[in-house]
Amino acid sequence: NEAHAAQMERTFIAIKPDGVQRGLISEIISRFERKGFKLVAIKITVPSKDFAKKHYHDLKERPFFDGLCDFLSSGPVIAMVWEGEGVIKYGRKLIGATDPQKSEPGTIRGDLAVVVGRNIIHGSDGPETAQDEIKLWFKPEELTSYAINSEKWVY
Ligand code: PPS
Repeated sequence: NEAHAAQMERTFIAIKPDGVQRGLISEIISRFERKGFKLVAIKITVPSKDFAKKHYHDLKERPFFDGLCDFLSSGPVIAMVWEGEGVIKYGRKLIGATDPQKSEPGTIRGDLAVVVGRNIIHGSDGPETAQDEIKLWFKPEELTSYAINSEKWVY
């Protein structure tokens, strides 16, 4: 419907090196796509350690910070921006709890991961983080704006 024609909510989602190396790219993308969210930016990149530190800057006091940054920069990451109504919060729901032992079955981590240090996917935790992370990972011209046929059947 017309009310949704304006720019909709966007979030940053990354498939971490463990997800890529386990062959879970299409599985993960498929869950967001089938839900009705729209992929507006995507790339594969091996982030540097410095870049990983920027991405996780909020966590620099945490004991796992260094290990987490080493891990994110250890291999290819699929960086994406997904768009849709409620995508920030619902994206986190699709992902499941941080600790895969506590993630519900049916969620990405619940179905596909076992431990917190290898939890295969990252999603922005709120509107501000989403904006910051999208800006860190993508240039403005890398974000697309397009209509898809099925959209009127989603909204
Ligand atoms: S916390 O503890 O409340 O800050 O947890 P959370 O905000 O959900 O997690 C922030 C990111 O840190 C990762 N994390 C860890 N990595 C390695 N080891 C341990 N113990 C650990 N605890 C949390 C967690 O996966 C989050 O990263 P992303 O990439 O966002 O999932």
